[in-house]
Amino acid sequence: MRRHAHPVVELAGVTKEYPGGVTALRGVGLTVLSGELLAIVGPSGSGKSTLLHIVGTLDRPSAGTVRIAGHDVAALSDRSLSALRSRHIGFVFQSFHLVPGLSARANVAEGLLYSGLPRAERGRRAARALERVGLGDRMDHRPHELSGGQKQRVAIARAVAGEPDLLLADEPTGALDTASGRSVMELLHELNEDGATIAVITHDGEIASSLPRQVRIRDGEVVEDTGPAGAA
Ligand SMILES: Nc1ncnc2c1ncn2[C@@H]1O[C@H](COP(=O)(O)OP(=O)(O)OP(=O)(O)O)[C@@H](O)[C@H]1O
Ligand SMILES: [Mg+2]
Repeated sequence: MRRHAHPVVELAGVTKEYPGGVTALRGVGLTVLSGELLAIVGPSGSGKSTLLHIVGTLDRPSAGTVRIAGHDVAALSDRSLSALRSRHIGFVFQSFHLVPGLSARANVAEGLLYSGLPRAERGRRAARALERVGLGDRMDHRPHELSGGQKQRVAIARAVAGEPDLLLADEPTGALDTASGRSVMELLHELNEDGATIAVITHDGEIASSLPRQVRIRDGEVVEDTGPAGAA
């Protein structure tokens, strides 16, 4: 499989300065190949979420280049960028970001709203994604009727329902107890074995070292990168 791997993320010289003078990223270079499962690890304030926003095309860099699935982000309008994002990238956030009044299935289907798929097909794919994460028996539960670990599984189902090229997870176990956190990490491993490319952002060294590749970031700089597993 590695033989056919292609770059999904290519960052070169990426700097991010926030208004007010904080330089959150300084000259970051990062290449992620299809099929990888990697950790982006670093202390609070080191720039992890900023990096996730830039890789996820939610924000643009102040300097440097960003290519996602071969597309140069700087060359795209905001509208093309959101199309690229909905086609290629799935997000999982620490705090789930589910819509309170909607069932698990409707929450997952929401993630497919801009896919161009008809409503019935969105519902079918949502059901399939929920089965995939082990929640086939919780489709009609609303978020307040689910445990924290189940809510995170719904969020993961929503992120993968559109079969994105890249899954970005920001502290996906941050709000969970140890057992739920472990089962969410197992699920991410399974999705990766099925072919998903996944970047997990964490400040937890134990989670980071359980993944095949670690990118360490400190004060906005990559200070260590173990590189793609199996790369020469
Ligand atoms: N919108 C913003 N405007 C100004 N400064 C910001 C903004 N967002 C983040 N920063 C600053 O940029 C730096 C990096 O923040 P970032 O959120 O990327 O850190 P992080 O590694 O994700 O931390 P944590 O582990 O606490 O989530 C911090 O010093 C932060 O204060
Ligand atoms: Mg953060």
